[in-house]
Amino acid sequence: MSKNYKIAVIPGDGTGPEVVAEAVKVLQAAGRKYGFTLDLTTIDWGGEHYLATGELLPADAKARLEKFDAVLLGAIGHPGVKPGILEKGILLKLRFDLDQYINLRPVRLYPGVETPLAGKTPSDIDYVVVRENSGGVYTGMGGNVQIDTPDEVACQNWVYTRRQVDRCLKFAFELAARRHSAQEPWRGLSAEDRAAGYTSQLTLVGKTNVLTYVCGLWERAFNAMAKNYPTVKTAYCHVDATTMWMVKNPEWFDVIVTENLMGDIITDLAAMTAGGMGVSAGGNLNPNGVSMFEPIGGSAPKYTGKGVINPLAAIGAGAMMLDFLGEKAAAAAIESGIAQVTGTRLKSMAAGKMGYSTAEVGDLVVETLA
Ligand code: IPM
Ligand code: MN
Repeated sequence: MSKNYKIAVIPGDGTGPEVVAEAVKVLQAAGRKYGFTLDLTTIDWGGEHYLATGELLPADAKARLEKFDAVLLGAIGHPGVKPGILEKGILLKLRFDLDQYINLRPVRLYPGVETPLAGKTPSDIDYVVVRENSGGVYTGMGGNVQIDTPDEVACQNWVYTRRQVDRCLKFAFELAARRHSAQEPWRGLSAEDRAAGYTSQLTLVGKTNVLTYVCGLWERAFNAMAKNYPTVKTAYCHVDATTMWMVKNPEWFDVIVTENLMGDIITDLAAMTAGGMGVSAGGNLNPNGVSMFEPIGGSAPKYTGKGVINPLAAIGAGAMMLDFLGEKAAAAAIESGIAQVTGTRLKSMAAGKMGYSTAEVGDLVVETLA
């Protein structure tokens, strides 16, 4: 019997609706080929809805989304709304309320995509960042006193519980363990590593030399859990050095795991090394609940309605969604379709410079599925 997935689609603001339309087109084509159907429900939350109604999210937003198998999000961000309102009131609120404690951000240089890293090729830039998505400074604890006086004190607490750290690390170790196999180990392992039984590498990113309490917790939890994953070689890298190696030697990374804000920062850098926002997708995952997939580029207001924005990031987010739903073959086919389109068709990944319209790029990916 063919499967039917209930998907909530939140096109959101700016170019969100345009790119989501292409993602949906590709997902439906994949469904026809791989034997599943999508039951799509469009939800209008975002900047326009907020400006029209004053509502960020309805009180039952969580309950409504929990009825779906997954959420596909376009972009949240509107030039008419003060920065921070929509981000906190919609995007972060959904991540928190749905307990999407993993932010999974693959960093993959597709063929034909220009990278600012001289001399690096697709085989050098192919890793994934597991960003903790529920804690850290994003928890929102803190405050200001003596506001607007010379003695103002501001405090933003960086909090983690062992449970939060452990569930994130467990996800990362499991992802690393299944990303490669004994037959096809990660390319960065030495002959000795392979002889020792390693197939993958997981790098913890932190700042244990200074931020000893929180990063100490991550490090102890990481080392304790490593014992359960004999095929995963572990490594550690300070966050500042990580930005350096991501530019100089991206081939050193297989899977990275890190806390929320550090992950936020390094994944923007990582996205740029892999060709920028036009192609970067991410998933906000709750492995026991409802996950939400999004292109990480934002709403790009100046390109809205012009049909010039690159939809590949949204299409990639759709592929991640299928992978997470268990439609592995369809997800892999879309991924390879994206690679064919970047490798053989698009002139550039940048908005307006692709050589095709937004909809034509969607069609090109659909053609690869035929
Ligand atoms: C991201 C974004 C968000 C974050 C903002 C918009 C709240 O930068 O998804 O990386 O900080 O997580
Ligand atoms: Mn970010």
